Amino acid sequence: MAYAGAQAQDAATFKPEQIAAGAALYKKNCAICHGEKMVDTGGGFFNLLTFPPAQRSRFMTSVGNGKNSMPPWKSVLSQEQIGELFAYVVAGEKKP
Ligand code: HEC
Repeated sequence: MAYAGAQAQDAATFKPEQIAAGAALYKKNCAICHGEKMVDTGGGFFNLLTFPPAQRSRFMTSVGNGKNSMPPWKSVLSQEQIGELFAYVVAGEKKP
């Protein structure tokens, strides 16, 4: 339970600027496959709304190195920018 609490706190500690920067990067680089505002485009791409918020390192690795038919992003985006994308993906569109 303590662990679940810590996760919730992590998601809540993203700064609004971080989420906003991630949203802009997302529109530019990711929306073409993953959909505007992460709404599934129906093309069989991973539905980012279901990405587990606790798995930050998985996000950093998959996005940085690519996964199957997703291209690697680490030559295009900095670690900081991928972190901003993570903030957007886990906190940007899921606010109640
Ligand atoms: C060319 C299309 C394409 C683009 C552009 C793209 N993705 Fe993906 N993405 C995919 C596909 C396909 C998968 C599913 C990979 C698999 O598991 O086979 C995926 C999977 C993912 C996953 C899940 C990885 C995992 O660990 O299961 C994340 C997170 C993700 N993408 C984030 C992003 C982000 C952030 C961007 C923008 C920087 C992005 N994607 C741009 C096609 C794309």
